[in-house]
Amino acid sequence: MNNNTLDFSQEEFSKILEKASSMILEKYANLDAIKGFNVNSQEEVESWFDEPLPRIGKDSFELLDEVKTKVFDSATGNLGKNMYAYVMSGGNQISTVAELLLSTVNQNNTKWHLAPAMTEIEKRVIKWAAEMIDYTPEAGGAMVSGGSEANLAGLTVARNIFFKKFDIKRNGLFGLKPFMVYCSKETHNCTDKSLSLLGIGTNQLRRIDTNADLTIDVNALEKQIEADITSGFMPFCVVGNAGTVNTGAIDNLTALADIAQKYEMWFHVDGAYGGLASALPSIKHKYAGLERADSIALDFHKWLYQPFEIGCVLVQDWEKMRETYYKEADYLATELQTNANARLEFNEHYFQLSRNAKAFKAWMSVKAYGFDRIREMIQKDIDLTNYLIKLVEESTDFELKSKADLAVACFRYKGKMADNEAISDLNQKLIPALEADGRVFITSTKLNGEFVLRACIINHRKTETSIEYLLDTIRDVASKL
Ligand SMILES: Cc1ncc(COP(=O)(O)O)c(C=O)c1O
Repeated sequence: MNNNTLDFSQEEFSKILEKASSMILEKYANLDAIKGFNVNSQEEVESWFDEPLPRIGKDSFELLDEVKTKVFDSATGNLGKNMYAYVMSGGNQISTVAELLLSTVNQNNTKWHLAPAMTEIEKRVIKWAAEMIDYTPEAGGAMVSGGSEANLAGLTVARNIFFKKFDIKRNGLFGLKPFMVYCSKETHNCTDKSLSLLGIGTNQLRRIDTNADLTIDVNALEKQIEADITSGFMPFCVVGNAGTVNTGAIDNLTALADIAQKYEMWFHVDGAYGGLASALPSIKHKYAGLERADSIALDFHKWLYQPFEIGCVLVQDWEKMRETYYKEADYLATELQTNANARLEFNEHYFQLSRNAKAFKAWMSVKAYGFDRIREMIQKDIDLTNYLIKLVEESTDFELKSKADLAVACFRYKGKMADNEAISDLNQKLIPALEADGRVFITSTKLNGEFVLRACIINHRKTETSIEYLLDTIRDVASKL
């Protein structure tokens, strides 16, 4: 250690960085060998970290060796080609560099003068995000932890702006009649969680039936709104999906925007999974109406291929963010700052006070790769999903359960079986068996109550060969059950 600080000498630090770099390079050198899941048991992983508080520091090189074996080598394979579970993107190399640089300058992106460049970068990334999805250039927003928080933020702005006249920032919701929120049955559970947190309560969430393609049934929605009005409830907000988590279904956003307008409701869109795919010429038409949303949740650790965490909430203008979140405090006063009016203060436009500069890695990535290249990768993910769908349809031992516009496909392995229950039973056994095998990592869901395997392809490193490997591995594991 150097002097009476926690710092190393320049020479020592340089060697530590070199060793860390070589660990990163080794990961990339062995990309093809990365399994979907490393099969160490929970007890084993827990035991690696079962130690008392270290009072005396450990040699940094030994520490990196420990990190390599316990963390790097056991990491779930998001980076590689064998991850199909949930919505896991593979990250990107420029963001690895960005996160290292970001933690080095350790900026607090809360007040302009605490992070001048990072504040301007975040403003710019919000503008770019709006441009990517053809939203208003006036949009305001914030970088948040992910899709769940982006939806919570959008719905918070919705509630605070919609009920501004009742001054709910001070009064809370006390004394207000219940007000209703509408979304399809396929909507992500972070909407339910958000409504619980916002004091609206999930009893006020109407989960509307879907059409055969799992998009919201707009007629059923309107009927429910009318019924609620007749019962004396106030319609407040409609949540549209720009790509559902289960199958990538994109709701009819124009119809939802029309209904929101007709009944004077807030229109929020969950674009966490599929929002950025609206930049693709091949499916742009599916997103018509997105530009009319009052708020949109995006998620850059999905289709901007960012490492966790980074989500983004967009609203029509900055003032709505400020009206929702601003609270004066003497210790945050801006009056004495030079050019104070031109400085955007993120703490006045979002809930957090201290915040890291998440936008930085997105900014570096978009500049390094160019958004057109990133778009090509999104299109490639969708093309590979169609390849998977084609293989499943052409096979005799798999059956397809959902086709969608985005990069998620649901299917079942049936082998030579015909009995529906036996097939369902086998697929339920397959999920833990595949996890125990580890070669590929895939999870499940239910579609209209039916258990299915769900493969999400959101990784710029995947190829047709990796898709074939997925199906072959499922066959192999199934044959041993
Ligand atoms: C449509 C949708 N909304 C919200 C979320 C939640 O995002 P996060 O996991 O980043 O909180 C997801 C995650 O998959 C999603 O697909």
